[in-house]
Amino acid sequence: MIGIDALTKDFGEGPVVDAVSLSVPQGAFLVLVGPSGCGKSTMLRMLAGLEKPTSGTITFGDVKVSDGESGWTIAPSRRDTGLVFQSYALWPHMTVAGNVDWPLKVAGLDKAERSTRVAEVLGLLGIEQLARRYPNEISGGQQQRVAIARMIAPKPKIMLFDEPLSNLDAKLRVEMRSELMRVHRATGATSVYVTHDQVEAMTMASHVAVLNRGRIQQFGTPRDLVADPATAFVATFVGTPPANLIEVEPAQDGIAFAGEILPASFPLDGPAQAMFLPETLRVSREAGPRTIALEFAEASPVAGRVMVTGARAGLRLTAVVDDVPGFMPGDTLYFAIPEVPAALFSVDGERLA
Ligand SMILES: Nc1ncnc2c1ncn2[C@@H]1O[C@H](COP(=O)(O)OP(=O)(O)OP(=O)(O)O)[C@@H](O)[C@H]1O
Ligand SMILES: [Mg+2]
Repeated sequence: MIGIDALTKDFGEGPVVDAVSLSVPQGAFLVLVGPSGCGKSTMLRMLAGLEKPTSGTITFGDVKVSDGESGWTIAPSRRDTGLVFQSYALWPHMTVAGNVDWPLKVAGLDKAERSTRVAEVLGLLGIEQLARRYPNEISGGQQQRVAIARMIAPKPKIMLFDEPLSNLDAKLRVEMRSELMRVHRATGATSVYVTHDQVEAMTMASHVAVLNRGRIQQFGTPRDLVADPATAFVATFVGTPPANLIEVEPAQDGIAFAGEILPASFPLDGPAQAMFLPETLRVSREAGPRTIALEFAEASPVAGRVMVTGARAGLRLTAVVDDVPGFMPGDTLYFAIPEVPAALFSVDGERLA
């Protein structure tokens, strides 16, 4: 449904979106995730037609909507896309119903059709009772629902979201996540959702593109990314908690893990970074054959288990375990690592094995 080929945007100081290629099928929920400034909003604005690519193409179905080389681009209003920004920008002088009605009026629907559709989408978002209120008479979360209702009212084939939940409190954000997923399924549209919150990315996406400095680090399903990260950046960006990376180096009687020689024997040519998933580390008060001593830093509950972090200068490890029998700040803990890392990356973060 959405095809992006070698898409590049350069505002004049080097590319901020750099030769990005990916495609997703109809009905996909594509999440663009990555740190601040990595080019997420710029990608979304190019999809919406608000920004022209410097080079590369965008196709919706079999229609080419942007072509950087020829400068061809279809106007935003003719792309059949809807966009919701982080700041919802409702029209303050219009009621909730008026806001949702407006794009339908622009699209030329008659009055009866419009009022049916307005009632339908307000119902879908659970805000029928707010129809006659003005934006300043409703809460932030309700305003966000109105913005989404307004976006989906004209039934866009592609729904674009730029961090739409980042102004909401944590509880509302979780609620709105599932609301949005429900709306996505109910409309059958293809969605592209921008966030820098990896939890949002991993819970909502059918497909995830991890961006860093304008480049795709990895494109795949949430599961692919956690189980099989393509770069060290992805490994430390996804997962709750994210994977541990330890600097390793061949040594005479084993392998040096962050300077500490342990008996291990996986193939290693030189300095690298070894990845261990938090669920595979064990924590105890006693040293063992493959343990690293760290000072207890913190423990916090995750989904019925406990996340334990230990640290010393230059190394921080997190394990997910069943319980932490009374660890206190300053305690020495021994983190046992598995014989073989889940993945190996070069010092520059490229995947080796
Ligand atoms: N109109 C513009 N002119 C010049 N540079 C721009 C323009 N728009 C964006 N940029 C630059 O492009 C880079 C990517 O910006 P973008 O807004 O796409 O990042 P982002 O991933 O959405 O970040 P955030 O998570 O902070 O919203 C930034 O370095 C930004 O300063
Ligand atoms: Mg942005």
